[in-house]
Amino acid sequence: MCGIVGYVGEQSAQDVVVEGLRRMEYRGYDSAGIALVHDGEILWDKKAGKLANLEKELVEHPLASSTTGIGHTRWATHGAPTDRNAHPHLGRHERVAVIHNGIIENFAGLREDLEADGTEMRSDTDTEVAAHLLERELETGVDLTEAMQRVCRQLEGAFTLVAVDAQDPSRVVAARRNSPLVVGLGDGENFVGSDVSAFIEHTREALELAQDQVVTITRSGVEVTGFDGSPAEGKRYHVDWDLSAAEKDGHDWFMRKEIFEQPHAVADALLGRHTAGGRLQLDEMRLSEQELREVDKIIVIACGTAYYAGLVAKYAIEHWTRIPCEVELAHEFRYRDPILTQDTLVVAISQSGETADTLMAIRHARTQGSRVLAICNTNGSTIPRESDAVIYTHAGPEIGVASTKGFITQLVASYLLGLYLAQVRGTKFGDEIAAVVDELEQMPVHIQGILDRKDEIYALAAELKDARSVLFLGRHAGFPVALEGALKLKELAYIHAEGFAAGELKHGPIALIEEGLPVFCVVPPQGRDQLHDKMISAIQEIRARGARTIMLAEEDDPAVAPYADSVIYLPRVPVLLQPLVAVVPLQLFACQLASNMGHDVDQPRNLAKSVTVE
Ligand code: F6R
Repeated sequence: MCGIVGYVGEQSAQDVVVEGLRRMEYRGYDSAGIALVHDGEILWDKKAGKLANLEKELVEHPLASSTTGIGHTRWATHGAPTDRNAHPHLGRHERVAVIHNGIIENFAGLREDLEADGTEMRSDTDTEVAAHLLERELETGVDLTEAMQRVCRQLEGAFTLVAVDAQDPSRVVAARRNSPLVVGLGDGENFVGSDVSAFIEHTREALELAQDQVVTITRSGVEVTGFDGSPAEGKRYHVDWDLSAAEKDGHDWFMRKEIFEQPHAVADALLGRHTAGGRLQLDEMRLSEQELREVDKIIVIACGTAYYAGLVAKYAIEHWTRIPCEVELAHEFRYRDPILTQDTLVVAISQSGETADTLMAIRHARTQGSRVLAICNTNGSTIPRESDAVIYTHAGPEIGVASTKGFITQLVASYLLGLYLAQVRGTKFGDEIAAVVDELEQMPVHIQGILDRKDEIYALAAELKDARSVLFLGRHAGFPVALEGALKLKELAYIHAEGFAAGELKHGPIALIEEGLPVFCVVPPQGRDQLHDKMISAIQEIRARGARTIMLAEEDDPAVAPYADSVIYLPRVPVLLQPLVAVVPLQLFACQLASNMGHDVDQPRNLAKSVTVE
């Protein structure tokens, strides 16, 4: 959710921190703030609204220079997004400044104790209690590291905290529990951040922290301990994302750039997954073939777009492996006492690897003895770290809040998982698997072909600019695509959009059809199990009631033209893989419509990229 940066070094801390916040603004953008240590004082500033408001304020009222500082960009949980609730929060004597991501669940009791002790609260946030508690500990004579350890032992919930002490400019101290925090290792300078984009401009060397750890950074070093003060060690890794991957590359929006990166992203997701002899190999698959043969049920858990990728995964996995596969929203799964055994394989899909709902669900699954496999895009993030196995999607950094290349590579990874299980369990012959892999390898070219026809889709977005409600219909693997098309439109254009299984129309949703209502129809490939013909019948029914039909159909499909107001032709691909091509026009449509409407496509209202609270 919130973006956090901390810096100690030789450069201007304000410049480093503000630059880091700019790269992390996609995590939350309700308000932003900064605190610097200067001459025994905390200098701070914070503003509601986007980071630009804070930057303007810092130009109008500059802070004195400092080489130690912290900064925050917020996605509000407790307390409205106002100047007063923006971070940093300061202790009552303004000795400590603290920034926070997460929720301190026991804040109400702590707040009462502090108030009873004469502390006057200056915000409605849960974070402020941490500032007062830290200051109280510092006043006993300990240093900020020990104060942080002591305070963390009193806190419940999920938090990343980063703090500075006015009387000690040499250090920034941070702590984490169930919330992201990484350390950037520089030369004569060190960093902390919610993710590596906070410091990627300065260093690619990073340190991953485990749960319940406190880290102290100084110019010359990094020290990690547990909350109890016992020494600990982080795990070093090298970040191979480059800076340009985190920039827009000539596009107006990160989201548009990421849509256009999808041919590459799919190719990268497939890279190195099979031997010369055609056998699939998944390097990060830490489960043995024997363990995979023992699996008798698969449960895919995820949220939002990743959940829709899971719905597609079910069609493919059950078809190829004959293992029963359920798909469930992670937050529903976690709190409903699901039936889990050691032979259940739980597949957690998450682009960020930090989604709290999904994280809590996998923890629950593991306590019940089930094995967890993560499909994830973010190296070193919490979900893959806490899973038994992982398939990385290799999409590169996804900055636009609405997921695009993240989704498409989750589909690729899900197909690879299904095929790998089929290989291990012998439910498909090698040449059948190789044929699907061949089809997958054609996908970058197919997707590029659709992107090259972007103008057709942009023209449609211009034509439908006044639509206030849009429906999406699909069948089979096209049904999750319809759900995803609707979600993209809701998120970006803020208009009513719903996806339905076409077979469900007559059971209720057809009542919504009225003259001129735009309905996108994902038409299955021709000639398979009557799916195609049944979809055409559903389209006839809505057209007869006045719907404006926009078909996504195979390029040589003669059946669609008589019932289509518009057709977006798709390449001929197998039905199970069709989501990889069918979703692309829907992403382009939502991006263009929202952009035409003047919305901020990369940072839609009320949303955050990485939902790190339940
Ligand atoms: C929608 C979107 C969200 C995420 C969801 C899960 O465009 O991006 O619905 O898919 O919040 O996020 P991850 O995949 O990071 O777990």
